[in-house]
Amino acid sequence: MEDKIKITKMTEEHLKPLLKMGKKHWPEDGWLTMSYLKNSLGQKGLSYAALENDRVIGGVIMVFEDIVKNWIRYIIIEENYRNSGTGSRLLEKITKHLKHGESIFVDAGAGLEDRGAVHFYEKNGFKNRGKVKSLYGKHAGYILEKDII
Ligand SMILES: CC(C)(COP(=O)(O)OP(=O)(O)OC[C@H]1O[C@@H](n2cnc3c(N)ncnc32)[C@H](O)[C@@H]1OP(=O)(O)O)[C@@H](O)C(=O)NCCC(=O)NCCS
Repeated sequence: MEDKIKITKMTEEHLKPLLKMGKKHWPEDGWLTMSYLKNSLGQKGLSYAALENDRVIGGVIMVFEDIVKNWIRYIIIEENYRNSGTGSRLLEKITKHLKHGESIFVDAGAGLEDRGAVHFYEKNGFKNRGKVKSLYGKHAGYILEKDII
């Protein structure tokens, strides 16, 4: 499956399906809106979409300037396409454009439902830098960091 999937620079046209995937995965989350995605993509950064025959099956949005530098604002792969290496390919694509000595940051929920995501980041070389109790209001989250070497 992986070979047929192309990674390309993300444009606003890719956002609608990416929002739909996110709404399915995080149905209760108020932060996830088209404005959030547009605003994130509009900032300087590195953002890529994964396409199968021109159909968007995933994407990543990373901005250069946030609370910290190089913050992943959004990453998602369509359900049927998970666990086939596409998420890792998106992270590799970003990593390739960063310099030695830089870091990438991301946050992930500390609950059971996000264990898979945390494992995904750790598998891709991120180190868990610790838990923030109220990162998502009532819910705790982890901050993970990957050093570019
Ligand atoms: C997290 C996500 C982007 C990873 O993309 P992917 O293409 O599925 O990841 P890859 O195929 O490159 O890597 C798969 C690895 O991640 C793990 N993983 C990723 N998501 C997982 C999940 N929800 N549950 C269990 N394991 C998961 C797999 O077990 C696998 O590890 P293994 O090879 O040791 O078994 C994708 O699963 C996804 O969209 N999840 C829902 C949205 C989400 O959680 N986004 C991150 C928010 S912090």
